[in-house]
Amino acid sequence: MFKLETIISLAKRRGFVFQSSEIYGGLNGCWDYGPLGVELLQNIKNAWWREMTFRDNIEGVDAAILMHPRTWDASGHTSQFSDPMIDNKTSKARHRADNLIEDFIDKMKKKKKNDIAEKIEVELEAAREPADFYNIIVNNQIPDPVSGTTDWTEVRNFNLMFKTFIGPIEDSSSAVYLRPETAQGIFVNFKNVMETGRQKVPFGIAQIGKAFRNEINTKNFLFRTREFEQMEMQYFIKPGSEQDWFEYWKEQRWNWYLSLGMKAEKMRWKVHNKLAHYANYAVDIEFEFPFGFGEIEGIHSRTDFDLKAHQEFSGKKLEYVDTVNGERFVPYVIETSGGVSRSLMAFLCNAYDEETVSDENGKSETRVVMRFSPKLAPIKVAVFPLVNKDGMPEKAQEIYQDLSKSFKSQYDTSGAVGRRYRRQDEIGTPFCVTIDGETLENGTVTIRERDSMEQIRISADKIKQYLFEKI
Ligand code: GAP
Repeated sequence: MFKLETIISLAKRRGFVFQSSEIYGGLNGCWDYGPLGVELLQNIKNAWWREMTFRDNIEGVDAAILMHPRTWDASGHTSQFSDPMIDNKTSKARHRADNLIEDFIDKMKKKKKNDIAEKIEVELEAAREPADFYNIIVNNQIPDPVSGTTDWTEVRNFNLMFKTFIGPIEDSSSAVYLRPETAQGIFVNFKNVMETGRQKVPFGIAQIGKAFRNEINTKNFLFRTREFEQMEMQYFIKPGSEQDWFEYWKEQRWNWYLSLGMKAEKMRWKVHNKLAHYANYAVDIEFEFPFGFGEIEGIHSRTDFDLKAHQEFSGKKLEYVDTVNGERFVPYVIETSGGVSRSLMAFLCNAYDEETVSDENGKSETRVVMRFSPKLAPIKVAVFPLVNKDGMPEKAQEIYQDLSKSFKSQYDTSGAVGRRYRRQDEIGTPFCVTIDGETLENGTVTIRERDSMEQIRISADKIKQYLFEKI
């Protein structure tokens, strides 16, 4: 297993991800996507959008980030969307109390003190209130990782929503929140979409968009950030059918990751025993990052909690009427909720590989290769003239310009062809086309495939067809 720093360094060096506002020293918990990162992000979003909305009964929306503040009272975010926070008086370091405890459990396990780890695990499972977390920390003398002391403040709940104000006056009547999840923009549009889309239950609404959470500790690169993107789908169903639909969506979502090259052995299910206030079944798909397994997507059975709450807070009926038998009900919901940025990081980690190969002179060297699925690869094809003379650059340019109309392509003339291959390997380009002397004689080119490094010769006018088939 390679280190997370290796991925962060490649991401920066090759223009996938930069620290936000880097020239000012960066802004904690925020990241910017560079030229290759934005292509990868877009490819993930396109793959998800196709997968979810290219169905008869799933419609898309793009709701506003700022929503009526009552939305968050109805959803429970104003009162319950908080994390337990604790400060160390000596180091002034601030921690999420549950994370501090989890890290301590891991440390105990590493030291083979399994009895202590198991005892604290049981206590953590039962913890609900700030005082419960405080007691675990104090009773088990969990030290601050920064100062090493147990000089703790009380645990307080910290609401994760970012507050801002509409208009020039900053008072409570103008306060609004940056949405902490995209789901609520779907619930409040349930009736609009059902009616305008002439949909009948079961049907779904899908949305991709930014969400914001004032996380206490951001860590592990893109894993926990303050600004991120989600891809969420709410599937509205008849009450009583939730178990079947829950199983259906679990399978669909698992297979989607596999279809994009995610390695099955790096994924696992996590079943939630401690359920969120709205859920009656919940599982996560987890991916094995360099720092351990972490959630990339949640699949939740949310009952009728959200629609009923919005019905109550807005005073508007959010029911479904079955036109066949006249039955009325508030639909239940199965939600699939994935993070775009978090899955981008998972796809980066999943793709990273190093292998020892021989260079042109037979000397062994390390090849860094991003084994992205061709569907996700930011650049699909690179075009090289073998040498920068004898009419090869002109022919290569002609081919490159033509391929660029259909595929995100790169043109590279600098250095030996071997070096050019390595540069493309490192950004995961699945195919490289080389124009050489033979191209000028008989119109054929070589296509080199990234993973096998095998080369084939085909006629230049067949390149597009070849790439369409492979991608
Ligand atoms: N609507 C349900 C919901 O938002 P969640 O488990 O809080 O559920 C869903 O979030 C997904 O959003 C997560 O699986 C993760 O991929 C992504 N996500 C959540 N918080 C995040 C953060 N702070 N940074 C990056 N991604 C995050």
